[in-house]
Amino acid sequence: MKLTIRKLHPCLGAEISGVNLADDLDDATVDALRAAWIEHCVLVFRDQRITDAEQIAFSQRFGELEIFPQAENRAVTHPEIFNLTNVGDDGEILPPKHETVQFVSTTQNWHTDSCYRSIPCNGAILHGIETTSDAGNTLFADLRAAYDTLPDDLRGRIEGLKARHSFEYMRSAKKDLPPMKPEELATVPPVTHPLVRTHPVSGRKSIYLSPIYMEQIEGLSDAEARALIDDLTEWASQDRFVYRHKWRPDDVLMWDNRSTMHLVTPFDAATERRVMHRTTLLGTEAVA
Ligand code: SIN
Repeated sequence: MKLTIRKLHPCLGAEISGVNLADDLDDATVDALRAAWIEHCVLVFRDQRITDAEQIAFSQRFGELEIFPQAENRAVTHPEIFNLTNVGDDGEILPPKHETVQFVSTTQNWHTDSCYRSIPCNGAILHGIETTSDAGNTLFADLRAAYDTLPDDLRGRIEGLKARHSFEYMRSAKKDLPPMKPEELATVPPVTHPLVRTHPVSGRKSIYLSPIYMEQIEGLSDAEARALIDDLTEWASQDRFVYRHKWRPDDVLMWDNRSTMHLVTPFDAATERRVMHRTTLLGTEAVA
């Protein structure tokens, strides 16, 4: 079948058809997908009934994979799979106060994945295994377009600034979560990244924004930093920059974390099942 690309939004997002992710793809197809991923930032593949092993094999065509820092969120059989779920090992919906449900609900805030690493991931691939009916959408904001159109005063304020990103700070937003295991916490110390970055492949500049992880901005008071992060988030999350994905079972999304941020819209986790498996593409260069 011929690979086709259909744009889903003026800024970002494209639906790809004519490819089965379970196949052993030839190099030309992988190259075409890589180019589309950089250009459109979010690729949508429908009706992909892939196993975890097939998802891992597909993901590895685009680079090495990250292992999520907390063992309880990893699939036991495949540590490369980060489980985003409100369903327990017994197949039942977990209570809303359960640690897993609380932790996964942090994704309902704007973020970019693994910004808490000194070299953040390049991208992520998410398989919707059990998807919600209407809510539980994933929104992606194009941080390139948001940067390109920034009002001059805001652009002037962020040039040269660096922000501190912290996994522990993100977790602290959920008061009910128990402390992290010390040996896991030690693997994710806070890191500093510039607020403006240049994509290493496309050369396009973007805002590097991950609000829920951003603990401080160098040279600003906490109040000034939070006000600036809020202003940037409000700017970047305007509808004109945002693609909204309404999930169907066996959708697979592949996004570029170097030019987008995302969040999940709230859903009723006490009654609706949502089971998503993510693989994460290890970063290859520092944010610059
Ligand atoms: C994520 O934030 O990586 C997961 C997004 C989702 O569950 O839709």
